[in-house]
Amino acid sequence: MPMWAGRFSKDIDERVNDFNSSIKFDARMYRHDIKGSIAHATMLGECGIIDKSESEIIIDGLKGILTDIDNGVLEFDPNAEDIHMFIEAELTKRVGDAGKRLHTARSRNDQVALDIRMYLLDEIKEIREITVKLIRAITDMAKEHLETVMPGYTHLQRAQPITFAHHLMAYANMLLRDIGRLDDTYKRMNQMPLGSGALAGTTYKIDRQRVCELLDFDGITQNSLDGVSDRDFCIELASAISILMMHLSRFSEEIILWCSWEFKFVELDDAYATGSSIMPQKKNPDVTELIRGKTARVYGDLNTLLSMMKNLSLAYDKDMQEDKEAIFDAVDTVKLCINTFIPMLSTMTVIKENMRNAAAKGFINATDCADYLVKKGMPFRDAYKITGTLVARCIELGVTLETLPINEYKKLSDSFDEDVYKAISLDTCVMQRKSAGGPAPESVKAQIEYVLREIDK
Ligand code: ARG
Repeated sequence: MPMWAGRFSKDIDERVNDFNSSIKFDARMYRHDIKGSIAHATMLGECGIIDKSESEIIIDGLKGILTDIDNGVLEFDPNAEDIHMFIEAELTKRVGDAGKRLHTARSRNDQVALDIRMYLLDEIKEIREITVKLIRAITDMAKEHLETVMPGYTHLQRAQPITFAHHLMAYANMLLRDIGRLDDTYKRMNQMPLGSGALAGTTYKIDRQRVCELLDFDGITQNSLDGVSDRDFCIELASAISILMMHLSRFSEEIILWCSWEFKFVELDDAYATGSSIMPQKKNPDVTELIRGKTARVYGDLNTLLSMMKNLSLAYDKDMQEDKEAIFDAVDTVKLCINTFIPMLSTMTVIKENMRNAAAKGFINATDCADYLVKKGMPFRDAYKITGTLVARCIELGVTLETLPINEYKKLSDSFDEDVYKAISLDTCVMQRKSAGGPAPESVKAQIEYVLREIDK
């Protein structure tokens, strides 16, 4: 019999019960539900809304339920409507009438709004922690590759020389902003909604501030309709996670390219790659491909939440039960992806020679060749044109700017001397790019220090 049987003359259709029930996916919030109920019962007892002795009986009962679920002694009833109903019914089964008093001055609407916030606050802490670990893995790797020259690209065409450390640190900065977004989300989510009741508060003299203290929230929600109605905090978190996944997916895409034979800049550890069932030569970057694929799924979760909320009249509507599968999936997926990505990245071998060779071939130092002429007094546009002609000549002769004979240079401008070779050497090109944020080792070292300082704050 459902809790609300009094109003009804028939039992619920079994199919409707299954359709309506959320215990399959909300059972994971049992710890938070129990913690919230303990705080509520404590407050009810302290405010004299229920007897102190009954409050204590309730609290002991709830603690027993928690232990039994944790130890696998108590199993969730798949026919229960949701985790909240299940725990309340179990409590009443165990402690009798006192259990029936727990829901005084509370509704499932404010209860679920509380539980999901508490659950997600814990998840944000965990996502933040592993994102910090990922940033550390990246900075560790960057420290090893301050002088590993590689081509930097635009339009996936070789553009200017950078170092692998410089490239890695771009991702570290993106992830640092992701942490900032998680922190912002955390701050706004950290408001305690219990006491909103179903939608209109309560006539009981409850002490919301006390519950807030007991549960360690920053403050209480300021409007009871808002407290039970909005899921913007889920949307905000899904959005922060989507952006994080976008960064991870982009990084994955690059690793996929880098381990192809066309690039061969990196080699994945055998433990983080897979073979083919038919082609014996294959070593596939499945982890990174799956991260790219799962990013689409997280975007789907964000879209589910946005679409689910956009035309709901205030206050609670059952549509909102759909929030959980979407946000839980986003949270589970991002954790899974980061936790797999970290060891894959840390065990990846970097093939420095191939990076360097690729940087040497693509006329990546053409800007520096033009800058050489500029430093000798030529206007940049003229220098740019001459260098373009030189590149065309190199292609014609099948050589690079480094191996083009000096007489070819001199044909185009008297300003060229033997020192041009030093000016356009890959090492010079990278080492001289010392501007803040640039690829020179000392600039990248400063970037690493900055990021490490920020994550230690
Ligand atoms: N399982 C429900 C949910 O997740 C709990 C709230 C139910 N409230 C109600 N008025 N039916 O949204």
